[in-house]
Amino acid sequence: MTSNPAQSTQINRCCDNAFTLGPLQTGPACCDPEPVIQVKNLSLQYGTKTALENVTLDIYRGCITALIGPSGCGKTSFLSALNRLIDLIPGCKVQGRILIDGNDIYDAACDVQALRRQIGMVFQKPVPFPLSIRRNIALPLHEHGIKQRAEVEAIIEQVLRDVGLWHEVCDRLDTAAHSLSGGQQQRLCIARALALSPQILLMDEPCSALDPIASGVVEDLISRLRGRYTIVIVTHNLAQARRIANYAAVFWVKERAGELVEFGQCQHIFETPAHELTASYINGIRG
Ligand SMILES: Nc1ncnc2c1ncn2[C@@H]1O[C@H](COP(=O)(O)OP(=O)(O)OP(=O)(O)O)[C@@H](O)[C@H]1O
Ligand SMILES: [Mg+2]
Repeated sequence: MTSNPAQSTQINRCCDNAFTLGPLQTGPACCDPEPVIQVKNLSLQYGTKTALENVTLDIYRGCITALIGPSGCGKTSFLSALNRLIDLIPGCKVQGRILIDGNDIYDAACDVQALRRQIGMVFQKPVPFPLSIRRNIALPLHEHGIKQRAEVEAIIEQVLRDVGLWHEVCDRLDTAAHSLSGGQQQRLCIARALALSPQILLMDEPCSALDPIASGVVEDLISRLRGRYTIVIVTHNLAQARRIANYAAVFWVKERAGELVEFGQCQHIFETPAHELTASYINGIRG
């Protein structure tokens, strides 16, 4: 364990400047945000391997928070702890607390299915089910008890519109999702995550498997979702983090465990980083 996280982590949360929001921004700006996720002294181990050590940070409602840092510093592990996907890994142990809207998600009373409904997840590689476009969205709805045909169809259309895919696929909803391009598949996966009306979206390098054009389309989409959803995104693309995120959390491997070295407004992290490791990383000197 590190000593006091307040001493070991540089935190800059001041909200003195209004965020500069791009033209795609539809949600409210994130000034004076409130935390929706509070991570307190989180440590995570796979057997004897410590992946994360004593991480404390808040994720703000309606904002985009980027998790950045070199490979192996625990970004995916951190995301997986937020929706308890980590429960599925044998031998994985979590210490500390994660509160969502004030409720401890590792409390025995937590309804994990309801939690996962509240938190959508999008992975690096688009993973549509081997089903039609329509069934990809209908299936999770059915599994969560939403079965009335008119309601299901309305949600399918709405979420496909939300991700800008409706006009591209509305005349072929019953064709295989795998017939879509990689970028379209990723937008379908985002639509599928949105179908259950989550309040939080976790995205693990959602653009890294896409070509630059498709990546740009998905990035614009993520920007548009700001405000309506609280988004936590892992990206190795620092320019992308800088373009879309309100906040950034910089992770690093120290003494063989991932730690949070700095958290703050994206602008401060990139322009006036408080920690030497952050400065080296964003300038391409280390990592
Ligand atoms: N299932 C697992 N079992 C054992 N160790 C694991 C497991 N998953 C991850 N680790 C280890 O935990 C550490 C953090 O891994 P994690 O995947 O969270 O890093 P990351 O920051 O997402 O890396 P990348 O940028 O390469 O995706 C690494 O040392 C990794 O090898
Ligand atoms: Mg990862």
